[in-house]
Amino acid sequence: MSKLAIVGAVMLAVTASLPACTSVSQEQKTAQAQTAVADAGIPDLELGLSKSSVFDDPSPTVFAYVGGDPGTNAAAETSYHTAPPMITHSIVDMVPILQDANLCKDCHVNPDLIGQKIDKGVPTPAPRSHYVENTNDLYMGRWNCTQCHRPQADVQPLVASTFIKDK
Ligand code: HEC
Ligand code: HEC
Repeated sequence: MSKLAIVGAVMLAVTASLPACTSVSQEQKTAQAQTAVADAGIPDLELGLSKSSVFDDPSPTVFAYVGGDPGTNAAAETSYHTAPPMITHSIVDMVPILQDANLCKDCHVNPDLIGQKIDKGVPTPAPRSHYVENTNDLYMGRWNCTQCHRPQADVQPLVASTFIKDK
């Protein structure tokens, strides 16, 4: 091949690829424009779970957690296998849990009771998974009980769930 032919072939290739480049960036521009239009189209009342204007300062209805004093409630329901059971009783005056104050632990960390029949009114012992392996020491990663266990309130969920518990 002569030098001229090579140069010619290269130039042809470059020219051929030019329209392709332009059309991609045009598509991107169109996509960006469409996104911008879509964004502008969402009314502020539809933006969040609180269906009020972003300029409002809404005061949501105050709700109370269900559950009486510990020892007076029915056993907890578990949402699904391996889910942390909800707290059945009131936790007023038990939170916040601090480094040197954990009332949950004082009642529930009782490894000797694991596997025994628990009479009504006796705190359910925190299970084996909560202790350092082969010891009766609470694993510190479980210290903050309310990270996983929560009291429940009788309210309408903000977003309906389609989750079905495995039998
Ligand atoms: C004064 C003792 C006491 C304290 C403090 C306490 N609990 Fe309880 N807890 C109980 C008793 C008794 C039950 C049995 C059900 C009932 O009466 O509510 C229970 C039930 C539970 C259950 C449901 C267990 C199941 O499978 O039925 C969870 C979860 C729980 N407590 C977590 C906590 C957490 C987290 C804290 C701290 C914020 C805490 N508890 C503080 C005594 C206590
Ligand atoms: C990292 C999440 C997590 C933390 C933190 C945690 N738990 Fe749990 N807890 C669970 C899960 C998950 C289960 C159910 C599965 C299992 O047995 O581990 C459970 C089960 C329980 C049960 C029910 C036992 C039974 O036999 O029904 C009690 C009571 C309990 N936890 C108490 C506590 C207490 C008290 C603390 C704080 C000292 C605590 N948990 C911290 C996740 C957690």
